[in-house]
Amino acid sequence: MRAKIIGTGSYLPPKVVTNDDLAKLVDTSDEWIRERTGIRERRVTDEKTATSDLAVEAAKAALTAAKVSPDEIDLIIVCTCTPDLLFPATACILQDKLGIKNAAAFDLSAACSGFNFGLAVGSSLIENGAYKKALLVGADTLTKYLDWTDRGTCILFGDGAGAVVLSATAKEEGVLKNYLKAEGLLGKYLIMPGGGSRDPEGKGGRVIRMAGREVFKFAVRVLGVSVEEILAIAKLTPADIDLLIPHQANIRIIDHVAKKMGLSKEKVYVNLQKYGNTSAASIPIALDEALKEGRIKSGDLVVLAGFGAGLTYGANIIRW
Ligand code: ACO
Repeated sequence: MRAKIIGTGSYLPPKVVTNDDLAKLVDTSDEWIRERTGIRERRVTDEKTATSDLAVEAAKAALTAAKVSPDEIDLIIVCTCTPDLLFPATACILQDKLGIKNAAAFDLSAACSGFNFGLAVGSSLIENGAYKKALLVGADTLTKYLDWTDRGTCILFGDGAGAVVLSATAKEEGVLKNYLKAEGLLGKYLIMPGGGSRDPEGKGGRVIRMAGREVFKFAVRVLGVSVEEILAIAKLTPADIDLLIPHQANIRIIDHVAKKMGLSKEKVYVNLQKYGNTSAASIPIALDEALKEGRIKSGDLVVLAGFGAGLTYGANIIRW
């Protein structure tokens, strides 16, 4: 038994914030942000909108694309580090919003690596026969946790949601292999100090604190490792890849790895110029857009690879 993606969907909040808009808040420029990150603009939620509000729109689009009704879903996983509440899980809030009755629902926290971790968990639960149809969502609203006076972080992130429907299949297709890793020792380089049980009142700040250069070095290393390892596990080579969908954090990280792997621009999907880093939503949004643009055909070999807070990293390899 394997798990196959039978529908995708995505949702971005309508408000666009450009680099020029940010240059009015902090000492930066459109040119600096474009050259150092590749980002041109990002989407930002309003005060009333929470992560589940984005997740539900992406989920509805994925269900429609998959031609699956909500009552067929028996597993819901929401990958997020910005849940609506500490509990109940955003997956349970989403379940209620979609009117899904007979499903297990839980959140998965691996920050920007969330979707890769969630896809590995969801596909494994389908492969072992426990579930038939899963709704897997990556959704985050990191702009709610930005220090808008810190030019090292506020320029990087945006909000969004992406979703897929996974279905059991007896064919040799779908999610073939997963590779997941974490290096907790480096966790200090990317943290949200306040709001957890160590500091429930959030005195240490409910904003992202990042050592950008350290995370950059880590990302360049592990994105390459993730692609190499997943290919080795699947007994394939870079030449077998039809499309690499990397986590959309910084074009320099992506270009470095693409060059190292000998992958041409046509084989690497990039949309970070429009949305910035949307955390767990970045890969499923990119996957949805790549499909809609005709960049993925039946039988193609697609690699999803990324990294995030934790520090975490990983990859999935899919036969479409
Ligand atoms: N505008 C202008 N100048 C800036 C800005 C800015 N927005 N940000 C930093 N600078 C300055 C710095 O102050 C520094 O100045 P100095 O030399 O006078 O000290 C100079 O630019 C170079 O700073 P670096 O930090 O070395 O810049 P770098 O080229 O590394 O780019 C960046 C910074 C874009 C943050 C990069 O380090 C990066 O992308 N890191 C990875 C971040 C990432 O991907 N995080 C998400 C992980 S996923 C998750 O789970 C959330």
